[in-house]
Amino acid sequence: MHRMYTERIWFRVAGWVDTGAKFKYTIMKTAAEICPVCAGSGWKPVHGKQDGGVTRCDCQLRARNGALIAAARIPKRYEHCELSNFTTDFPGADHLIALAQIGAARFVQEFDPREGKGLLLVGGIGTGKTHLAVGILKELIAARGCACLFCDYRELLKQIQNSYNDSVQATELQVLRPVFEAEVLVLDELGAVKPSEWVWDTVSLILNTRYNDNRTTIITTNFADEPAARVARSLSPARAAAREETLGDRIGERMRSRLHEMCRIVKMEGPDFRQKFKSASFG
Ligand SMILES: Nc1ncnc2c1ncn2[C@@H]1O[C@H](COP(=O)(O)OP(=O)(O)OP(=O)(O)O)[C@@H](O)[C@H]1O
Ligand SMILES: [Mg+2]
Ligand SMILES: [Zn+2]
Repeated sequence: MHRMYTERIWFRVAGWVDTGAKFKYTIMKTAAEICPVCAGSGWKPVHGKQDGGVTRCDCQLRARNGALIAAARIPKRYEHCELSNFTTDFPGADHLIALAQIGAARFVQEFDPREGKGLLLVGGIGTGKTHLAVGILKELIAARGCACLFCDYRELLKQIQNSYNDSVQATELQVLRPVFEAEVLVLDELGAVKPSEWVWDTVSLILNTRYNDNRTTIITTNFADEPAARVARSLSPARAAAREETLGDRIGERMRSRLHEMCRIVKMEGPDFRQKFKSASFG
């Protein structure tokens, strides 16, 4: 039984992460050498009684959590982000921040992987979008054992472009496979790359693949969830020139509309938390 369980974890993680073998080793080692409760079997008696049947030992759950967190590739900069340390009652906090936190907690509670419905966190710089997205990811790993992946949009596009270079080993599909297959994907900073035909094609490939497979995607963006310039006809030429770029401008109207099918929109406003509080008491 123990072996079956370990194999199952390894299989889930290794299915989309090249270094799965390393995790398998870590899990086996943790179970076999360290745990004093189950002596490496992975199973412990229910309520400590020998004849009451067995249940999974906590060391197994911890190992699974550790492997899934590592596989999620959360950048160091955001490792501290949890739903529980996201504050909403700081001076100048917009009411949308509290609503966003409630929305994030509810999302975790009601998460149904078959539904494939994600979140689009939209807002200004430093309003806590990435913090909430990472917090959700960690909760889904801990509470639901989901296979998650954090992905920076700029970094991802760079990696894909790099894969066209003959001297680079990874193929485009190798870069994209984990992004396609993660049960829950955080796509951070959508729209942050200057649009081009190639960028639009790549974004549609990613979003459409996940949409077709009914997979959950949590997206953050700084760009207002509004139409592209050519669609916003009501603007006078002078206002059109002065207006800020929107998500429609950056990823195209077709993909913006796809996002509305894939995600619930969460607006975040307020001060830049980084500038205002990070150096002071919030650490
Ligand atoms: N409400 C909050 N409670 C606690 N920490 C917060 C909160 N909002 C932001 N932070 C912290 O401030 C920093 C900036 O937040 P974050 O990176 O999530 O902002 P962002 O909206 O993603 O910004 P950007 O648009 O620049 O990507 C992070 O270190 C984050 O942990
Ligand atoms: Mg961010
Ligand atoms: Zn154990």
